[in-house]
Amino acid sequence: MLKRYGRKSVRNLTIVITGCNTGIGKETARELYKHGARIIMANRNRLETEQVIQEFQKQNPSCGGQLIYKHLDLTSMDSVNSFSQDIISNEPRLDILISNAAVFGAPLCLTDDHFELNMQVNHLAPALLTHLLLPKLQQSKIEESPQPRIIAVTSTLTKHGTIQQEFLSRITNEQLKTIMDKRGREIYASTKLANLHFMRSLSTHKNVVKNVEICLASPGFCYTRLHRYTSSSRLIWMSLLAPLFFMIVKSSRQGAQTIIGCSMLSRVRPDVLYHDCKEDEHFFQKGPASLVSNSNDSYEITMKSIEPFLK
Ligand SMILES: NC(=O)c1ccc[n+]([C@@H]2O[C@H](COP(=O)([O-])OP(=O)(O)OC[C@H]3O[C@@H](n4cnc5c(N)ncnc54)[C@H](OP(=O)(O)O)[C@@H]3O)[C@@H](O)[C@H]2O)c1
Repeated sequence: MLKRYGRKSVRNLTIVITGCNTGIGKETARELYKHGARIIMANRNRLETEQVIQEFQKQNPSCGGQLIYKHLDLTSMDSVNSFSQDIISNEPRLDILISNAAVFGAPLCLTDDHFELNMQVNHLAPALLTHLLLPKLQQSKIEESPQPRIIAVTSTLTKHGTIQQEFLSRITNEQLKTIMDKRGREIYASTKLANLHFMRSLSTHKNVVKNVEICLASPGFCYTRLHRYTSSSRLIWMSLLAPLFFMIVKSSRQGAQTIIGCSMLSRVRPDVLYHDCKEDEHFFQKGPASLVSNSNDSYEITMKSIEPFLK
């Protein structure tokens, strides 16, 4: 991928990575820091992030990169707003936003903002963050340098998602009960599909995303803490299939490679899926219709849901 489009240096670029105290986000941060980037670690766990900072600095003491912790909790739209205001006011520039943080199958509940929690963490809060930081990314465009960009970390499980548009909006406890029978994987796939629709649709709003590139990167099936909410009976099955499991599963480091590649390419495209360090031209064309249909509707509903928080 890098050979085909040329590699750009990330030295001195400011890169926000959400959810990088562990897993794929952590490995992405490690590599980009090593290449001299200024990494803003947008996490909710201060202690763990500080330990990660120490680990990276010890490993690469003179790489020229910088690591800064800033608190971000995607279950709170207020937190998304405070984080964004901090970046807008205090950072001279922002070159790349890597929207990586997510949950898989977290117990269904309402957040204080009255959204279903999985939908807020995986889609609505990242959508708000994207909108709040877009102007900062746009201002950071320098003549002749590659365009600032947003990398949304997605999943091929989006193929199994369905959009229930009412769950993109504020809901009541009664409405929440109607999705209680859905499985974690189904809910995850749907929240990731909602985000994929949003990012693809956003990329077509040329006036809104002027000077900013958008791409979707899928890390593949990786062994991380993402599966922390997986039921114990499922984990027993997985351990019985362990030899096979470890043949197909990737490490966080391997999973991070596509995202790192997307950060370093001289240009990225919004119409393909970046997967296994390649452009998958067929993902949207040959996948189920749900991957592409009604994405503008999902975008409009999402915009209505986040509008009250666009301060
Ligand atoms: N692992 C896979 O097989 C796989 C496959 C396809 C796509 N992906 C995607 O890859 C990305 C990274 O996942 P991963 O596998 O590295 O998972 P992970 O190890 O569970 O890491 C997820 C990260 O998101 C953070 N996070 C969760 N809820 C948050 C919240 N409310 N506010 C702020 N941060 C929050 C976590 O922070 P805490 O540690 O504080 O919870 C953690 O840093 C996700 O977008 C996921 O959908 C993963």
